[in-house]
Amino acid sequence: MTQRVRKAIFPVGGLGTRFLPATRAMPKEMLPVVDKPLIQYAVEEARASGIEELVFVTGRGKHAIEDHFDISYELDQTLVERGKSALLDETKAWLPTPGQIAYTRQMQPLGLGHAVWCAREFVGNEPFAILLADDLVMSKTPCLRQLIDVHEKTGGNVVAVMDVPKEHTNRYGILDLESDDGRLASIKGLVEKPAPEKAPSTLSIIGRYVLLPEVFGQLDRQEKGAGGEIQLTDAMAKLIGKAPFHGLRFEGRRFDCGDKVGFLEANIAFALDRDDLGEAVRDVLAQYARPR
Ligand code: G1P
Repeated sequence: MTQRVRKAIFPVGGLGTRFLPATRAMPKEMLPVVDKPLIQYAVEEARASGIEELVFVTGRGKHAIEDHFDISYELDQTLVERGKSALLDETKAWLPTPGQIAYTRQMQPLGLGHAVWCAREFVGNEPFAILLADDLVMSKTPCLRQLIDVHEKTGGNVVAVMDVPKEHTNRYGILDLESDDGRLASIKGLVEKPAPEKAPSTLSIIGRYVLLPEVFGQLDRQEKGAGGEIQLTDAMAKLIGKAPFHGLRFEGRRFDCGDKVGFLEANIAFALDRDDLGEAVRDVLAQYARPR
């Protein structure tokens, strides 16, 4: 029996320079896909996957995220006065319960591994999840739930993976495979952002992880890796051989919302998927699809 995965870390300290000027005074995690901020998709996915406690690793200028997951007296009052209490009820359905979200600050931008390490006291000695809000997944079963299901069977560490074009290996953590049944791959090595000619495969980590707390022991060493940053991938690589380590080719479609085209594509895909917008958006797209 594995211990239940109850806690999730959301690293949200990044500067979002790729989306300037939009992110000058607004966290990149608050960018909306259709009408919902990226971070809310990640939180909803975590809760739908059985996560009960959430910790956000934030940084300067991220207050909008805390406000988003809090009561807004003025707004709520106005909605009631205007007879829009249905909107208010909708909000109450996704707002976390008091005490369910904790916030800690990364203080220095030293890398993803460092951000995760900042949440170590909150997680303690149990398996936990990490969700990167930039990676948005549209799927029937929440992507994180798929990982937890594997973790409950195999134990150990499980990361979400997908094949990427060879020329993109330098954007991801890449797997060195021991075995692979086409869905689940057993991992014998991990490399952060290798050049295409050095990459051991094209199977890449996307931002969903279920990890054992032993990873904090590795992150304690504060060793710098690719790009001079403290890399989560390097700390995970040191766990290989000590417990099972799997990559899951999850069911679903992933959008790289850290990239402008990926973000725009997510907006189109999520809008097309909506009953209230799908048809209108399809009509608009048809106009643009005409040959120039
Ligand atoms: C991070 C990780 C990388 C992973 C990626 C997924 O990189 O370091 O291993 O493949 O997220 O999106 P970043 O996108 O923060 O550069």
